[in-house]
Amino acid sequence: MAEESTRPAEAGEPNGDGKQAPGGSAGSDGADAAARGSTDHFGASAVREEIALEVEDLRTYFTTRWGTVKAVDGLSFTLRRGETLGIVGESGSGKSVTALSLMRLVQSPPGHIVGGRVILNGRDILELSEGQMSQVRGGEISMILQDPMTALNPVFNVENQVGEAIRIHQHLRGRTLMNKVVNSLRQVRIPAPEMRMKDYPHQLSGGMRQRVVGAIGISSAPSVLIADEPTTSLDVTIQAAYLRLLREIQAETGLGIVFITHDFGIVAKMCDRVAVMYAGRIVETGDVRQIFNHPQHPYTQALISSVPKLEEKTERLYSIEGQPPALYNLPVGCAFAPRCQYVMDVCREEYPPIFDQGGAQSAACWKLEGGKRLENATITEAAAVPAGAD
Ligand SMILES: Nc1ncnc2c1ncn2[C@@H]1O[C@H](COP(=O)(O)OP(=O)(O)OP(=O)(O)O)[C@@H](O)[C@H]1O
Ligand code: SF4
Ligand SMILES: [Mg+2]
Repeated sequence: MAEESTRPAEAGEPNGDGKQAPGGSAGSDGADAAARGSTDHFGASAVREEIALEVEDLRTYFTTRWGTVKAVDGLSFTLRRGETLGIVGESGSGKSVTALSLMRLVQSPPGHIVGGRVILNGRDILELSEGQMSQVRGGEISMILQDPMTALNPVFNVENQVGEAIRIHQHLRGRTLMNKVVNSLRQVRIPAPEMRMKDYPHQLSGGMRQRVVGAIGISSAPSVLIADEPTTSLDVTIQAAYLRLLREIQAETGLGIVFITHDFGIVAKMCDRVAVMYAGRIVETGDVRQIFNHPQHPYTQALISSVPKLEEKTERLYSIEGQPPALYNLPVGCAFAPRCQYVMDVCREEYPPIFDQGGAQSAACWKLEGGKRLENATITEAAAVPAGAD
């Protein structure tokens, strides 16, 4: 990221086991992240206690010729109103399947949500009929994808596409509908919205297209927005502006955001809490400061070490040795064992329990044995401690 540094906060200070926390030295954004805690990105307290989304033991499997792919395997987390939860992990860790599962858009077959609960504003959306779900999707919960061109239809203009979402969920027509379209475009800071809404997607720049997708996403005032790598296709300065825009909209509306990324630098800028995913499971979760300053899981430590440091001259960038495992053939114990420098016999025999690390932080790793053990579902309770409460 060129415009804004991606440096994690206070990295380099000792972490929980007395070693240096990976991630380089403190930088402005890291300091931002550290200072932010439970406050919003403008300094005012924005994270509300009200739970918008609660996910319990979610499991989404794909039936393939090689076997059952356990893309999401027992995910539990909560999201409060006004809060941004980052879901971070390498390619293939199950981030997008998580997003699609929350929207109930997993392609079936071969995919099936085989277990769990997704409580949105108090009701389990996995129990709704498809008819009921089509009102909730794009209404109470909506999603922004990585590539705006896949979300936009090239043969309809902006007015039609933003207008359709509003018409379906708010049942508006005529002039009222048009005014609402203009307002939605204005909310995502599209200049001269009355003129731009006549444009077709190919007439807009990449950044403008992603803003239109954002306008569709927030047009029905959802309580939860899932953003799956929404800035990957944008260049760095447009990326920074888009992240700022999302934060501003969040401060205005109290939107809860699940922000999916493989980039820990973006997590530092954007998120209040982080869930680190590996091989379909959350391996560590916590307040963004805790995770950057005291990452406990070896995989989190490796991910943070691989964030490039602008101020440090290095011959080679750190990268995690080895490949993520095939999700249809997971090892019996810890899925990270083949790549972990701390691996022990027990790691290969039994999947590690979740150990409480204090505050909102917890991690699933045998190295942490001795700490308070949490039941799987309890990871939700640990995560529900207000960010910065430690
Ligand atoms: N339709 C499908 N059929 C079979 N397996 C699938 C299907 N869709 C996803 N998967 C598998 O689910 C796993 C998780 O995929 P997912 O797209 O969620 O990864 P991701 O974390 O979003 O990765 P990336 O960072 O590359 O976007 C992968 O192993 C993928 O091969
Ligand atoms: S459980 Fe063992 S193999 Fe897995 S991350 Fe912890 S130390 Fe490494
Ligand atoms: Mg993905």
